[in-house]
Amino acid sequence: AAVGLTVPHESAALHVTGAALYTDDLVGRFRDVLHAHPVQAPHAHARISRLDPTPALHVPGVVRILTAADVPGLNDSGVLGDQPLFPAEVMHHGQAVCWVLGETLEAARRGAEAIAASGVDYDPLPSVITVREAMAAGSFQGADRHVQRGDVETALHDAAQVFTGETEFAGQEHFYLETHASLAVVDESGQVFVQSSTQHPSETQGIVAHVLGVPDHAVTVQCLRMGGGFGGKEMQPHGFAAVAALGATLTGRPVRVRLTRAQDVTMTGKRHGFHAAWRVGFDAEGHFTALEATLTSDGGWSLDLSEPVLVRALCHVDNAYFIPNVSVRGRIALTHKTSQTAFRGFGGPQGMLVIEDIIGRCAPQLGLEPHELRRRNFYTAGQTTPYGQEVRHPDRLVRAWDTIAESAELDTRRAEIATFNASHATAKRALAVTPVKFGISFNFTPLNQAGALVHVYKDGSVLINHGGTEMGQGLHTKMIQVAATALGVPLHRVRLAPTRTDKVPNTSATAASSGADLNGGAVKDACEQIRARLDAVDDGAGLAWEDLVAKAYLARVQLWAAGFYRTEGLGWDAATMHGHPFKYFAYGVAAAEVEVDGFTGAYRTRRVDIVHDVGDSLSPVVDVGQIEGAFVQGAGWLTLEDLRWDEGDGPDRGRVTTQAASTYKLPSLSEMPEVFNVTLLPDAHEDGAVYGSKAVGEPPLMLAFSVREALRQAAAAFGPPGVSIDLASPATPEAVYWAIELARSAV
Ligand code: MTE
Ligand code: MOS
Repeated sequence: AAVGLTVPHESAALHVTGAALYTDDLVGRFRDVLHAHPVQAPHAHARISRLDPTPALHVPGVVRILTAADVPGLNDSGVLGDQPLFPAEVMHHGQAVCWVLGETLEAARRGAEAIAASGVDYDPLPSVITVREAMAAGSFQGADRHVQRGDVETALHDAAQVFTGETEFAGQEHFYLETHASLAVVDESGQVFVQSSTQHPSETQGIVAHVLGVPDHAVTVQCLRMGGGFGGKEMQPHGFAAVAALGATLTGRPVRVRLTRAQDVTMTGKRHGFHAAWRVGFDAEGHFTALEATLTSDGGWSLDLSEPVLVRALCHVDNAYFIPNVSVRGRIALTHKTSQTAFRGFGGPQGMLVIEDIIGRCAPQLGLEPHELRRRNFYTAGQTTPYGQEVRHPDRLVRAWDTIAESAELDTRRAEIATFNASHATAKRALAVTPVKFGISFNFTPLNQAGALVHVYKDGSVLINHGGTEMGQGLHTKMIQVAATALGVPLHRVRLAPTRTDKVPNTSATAASSGADLNGGAVKDACEQIRARLDAVDDGAGLAWEDLVAKAYLARVQLWAAGFYRTEGLGWDAATMHGHPFKYFAYGVAAAEVEVDGFTGAYRTRRVDIVHDVGDSLSPVVDVGQIEGAFVQGAGWLTLEDLRWDEGDGPDRGRVTTQAASTYKLPSLSEMPEVFNVTLLPDAHEDGAVYGSKAVGEPPLMLAFSVREALRQAAAAFGPPGVSIDLASPATPEAVYWAIELARSAV
């Protein structure tokens, strides 16, 4: 069968030769394109007291200014009504207050500069920048959430040991290679066609339509592919698409929006940083007895996806560990920063960081090796999560854990590390092993549906459309494999067309790692309908594919079909945070070894071993690529990427100070693990998922906790045995240095 075959990404050759088309590559294929440039506010929080576009109109090449007065429909770029596209009140430094259209990008830029210089006045207002400031000021937004089971207070009272702490950690810039881009054209009847770099074409369509004040059917959105999305293009593309579409309707000319890197960083949302305050209880054997915590996410200026991100964080504070008594509250801070949004893991990593930090800090105080404390608390068969879902197949996690212990020779290497550390005063090594359990499905049950449209042409060639988008993750490759398998044709017979809202309507975002599960189900459904009709025509004759298709056509048999899929067996009560929100859990284990330099805190990742559960892989090379990429992206978040805002009281308060790769350190080749072994867990068929496969996009990101915990242990090795130390996140060399100092000063 075509599923399970080792094939390259369907666009691999196009990617590496530069021939692959991205949204902005289309600009040259249209005539008379106008270029859009924003006027960005220089305040974190301010009322706009005057906005006069006239200065821009004197700039040669400026064609039109877009302001709130031009919006025929709803002036909002989101779905919750709290994200004005053209604001009256500036809510973060760098927010676009209006847009200038020019014959060239340079003309538009000069026009925007002219408005910024003399066309706009602001009355600055007090601002809230950090999550701690928000907590002190009571600046929150959206719904608070609470996950609860058992009786935490009694359990903490009865616990053998209780620990209390705070954990605060930073967000993350998506830094997709392709910045946000949209290109809109209008046809003779006023129909709007928007090319957009979007993970969520249907929602982009809906928002463009409400801004224009037209029905959804008047707007078509196409996404060719994205040069990375990572969650940053789930909610954030809509406003840019709406600006392009509004400009196109008002001028009758194609309008292009493409952000520079600095615009992208200063205007679009990022991963949420969090603050957590916790109390945790253990019994005498080191089993969790209770967890009480309050998680506060840094939501930025509007809700965006902060509420579902918070829900996923709360559903992952347990990670792979059974905690009988739980009371975890979550709330969203309103800060005057970009509106923080989805980022690979969607809150899951933030929830899990809290429990992994707790384990990393408590293990020494319990007198246990961290890996022993982790292993001791794994879920066992029949146990349920704090929100009430049974944890199926926890044995797979144990299998992955045991496999790593053997294949990565953990015992031998721990002994080697002890010897190394004993003989090196200025360098220390450590090895940490961490597990991942990640729930697959959108928490919000209705989103777990997908559609597909499959055509078999008279010559036997096959064209598939589905509702998912391609952002490099290999979804299209998998869908071609699914179609070829379900139809029983070779892979080269199948072509996949770009995602369009006029082919498959009402789609969910390609997100929550569920793209292959959902769209795979829909593609398979469409193909099976066609296959059944063809089998009836064949009637056991065993005709060759081309002959069978030709015969079916002459017999007037429908050779195309629409497919649909919805995940069965889900249930979630959002108010009580209880139910069975996930189809299944994805599991993985990573072991990471680091070496830390005692003078500088600089470190190397010497070796990483991963065993990850993807069920029966649909496409093994694609899956291994996802695991490697996710792990490295997670390690970037936890150890390198130091997102900073100006938190001072000066004129630049609230400005993102890390606007480019020169100040924002991304993982590159030199930070790769020196040895990097990734294997897929064998014998892991998942019943009820498409061809027994499991989602892979996000879960392996959280395997990077192994690197953070190894750094903590290596820093601790500079101090007395059994010292417990706090480690900031990101654990940059500077943060590791301070952790080493902490260890050295301990007695
Ligand atoms: N891989 C690449 N190369 N580029 C991306 O933007 N996004 C990730 C993951 N892997 C991403 C990626 C995120 S956040 C998600 S939710 C999934 O892919 C989405 O795709 P899937 O559902 O098809 O796995
Ligand atoms: Mo992924 S954060 O669900 O787009």
